[in-house]
Amino acid sequence: SVQDRSPQHELVVVANRLPVDSRTLPDGATEWVTSPGGLVTAMESVMRTVESGAWVGWAGSPGEAPDPFDADGMRLYPVRLDQSDVERYYEGYSNATLWPLYHDVIVDPEFHRGWWDSYLSANRRFAAAAAPVAAPGGTIWVHDYQLQLVPRMIRDKRNDVRIGFFNHIPFPPVELFSQLPKRNSILRGLLGADLIGFQRESDTLNFVASVRRLLGYHVDGTTISVPGIGAAPVREVQVETFPISIDSAAVSALTEDPEICERAAELRRELGDPEKVVLGVDRLDYTKGIRHRLKAWGELLDDGSIDPHDIVMIQVATPSRERVEAYRQLRDEVELTVGRINGEHAPIGRPAVSYQHHSFDRREMTALFMAADVVLVTALRDGMNLVAKEYVASRPDLQGVLVLSEFAGAADELRAAVLVNPHDIDELKAAILRSLAMPPEEQEDSMRSLRHQVMENDVQAWAHHFLERLETSQTPDSEDAPL
Ligand code: ADP
Ligand code: G6P
Repeated sequence: SVQDRSPQHELVVVANRLPVDSRTLPDGATEWVTSPGGLVTAMESVMRTVESGAWVGWAGSPGEAPDPFDADGMRLYPVRLDQSDVERYYEGYSNATLWPLYHDVIVDPEFHRGWWDSYLSANRRFAAAAAPVAAPGGTIWVHDYQLQLVPRMIRDKRNDVRIGFFNHIPFPPVELFSQLPKRNSILRGLLGADLIGFQRESDTLNFVASVRRLLGYHVDGTTISVPGIGAAPVREVQVETFPISIDSAAVSALTEDPEICERAAELRRELGDPEKVVLGVDRLDYTKGIRHRLKAWGELLDDGSIDPHDIVMIQVATPSRERVEAYRQLRDEVELTVGRINGEHAPIGRPAVSYQHHSFDRREMTALFMAADVVLVTALRDGMNLVAKEYVASRPDLQGVLVLSEFAGAADELRAAVLVNPHDIDELKAAILRSLAMPPEEQEDSMRSLRHQVMENDVQAWAHHFLERLETSQTPDSEDAPL
């Protein structure tokens, strides 16, 4: 059978993106670069420690998928998305419908019936690619909002494997989720998993409330009973909270590299040796609160509360989803605002806001964290926010201040940060000033407590915890009602 000839992996990760993106060079050759975002940062370091693992995902450009290949000790299985899938499944349903709806409708979600059809068929393609490569009795771990139908689609093909699902972004309150056309299909798709994980307790509660209210299924604590067809026995699905993290020790270890330390010092020199450096690092996404941050920064300069000769802000804004309208608008606004701030306040030969619209390698990123006195994470809504944890892991010297939005998942754990409501611009300004003036001993107290949290709870522990829980979940033995 096909199954006998297929490669067999004990653990198969399925995500919209592979950990690497293919780029076609001018001479026609293919180059592979790390894909953007927190999902890849986290799962890439998990998979490096897994033997005979596989990752099923899209290679980042429309058209024919490359052949499966090995990288970093795992096998990568590229899934094809053609131009229309990219427009309707990826940019459309995933990033113009689900993303804004799941992030508290910071921008209006768009609903188009054609996008749903494409979401359905793309999810089928991921499921079809993943199902045959799992070993008998193996584990398939599906990730994130782009693939919510995949757990159920895999279950229909393979009832011998354990299926886990983890949502890296928030799950919205039932009042918002109910707006989604096809909402029940999404819930049934997810409930194909044996274990469903969320970042925050509030996400788990929102999901459970939606299942109860919209599907009427029985819920007992963290166990959902999914009825079978006719007299078939009920299948139990576990729903739990697993806050994701980073490879804390690896990030921390980079700070001991003399080249990176020297680079951190050099960065400060290049900025003109300011007294303080303030840093923001985000994908250029409207959920990250970059506009709110720049508004606060601009006002502090206008007020004369900060002197651009003494204090410089660096804003790294990684290009993201550049063909989606809300992202184009955001880029225009951010770049206009940065231009205005610099025009009004920057001394000659030196920025008030150094704006970086490109990616950096991990070493340069670590140097930036080491050079920053204050890091601003002002997300209006964020599943977790790994940047916050990376900053903490980059400061074994126990100096530096993290300003953290209470709307980021990380705020549940990083209680010792300077917590802010980024919608309150006056509060945000006060928090920035307080952070800039914080005495070294106070920085040390706060950073010590933050580090305790981040170093103890790394991404390896997170994955271990999830997979162990999945291992003890019930084995499937019944057929669910149709999607
Ligand atoms: P999201 O998943 O929404 O992008 P996170 O903060 O959880 O947000 O994760 C972002 C990840 O991408 C972090 O690991 C961060 O260091 C990395 N990153 C962000 N911007 C850049 C950039 N310009 N170059 C390289 N890595 C980046
Ligand atoms: C977030 C999402 C990921 C996504 C990443 C980058 O981290 O949770 O699923 O991959 O952003 O976004 P992109 O659309 O470029 O994949």
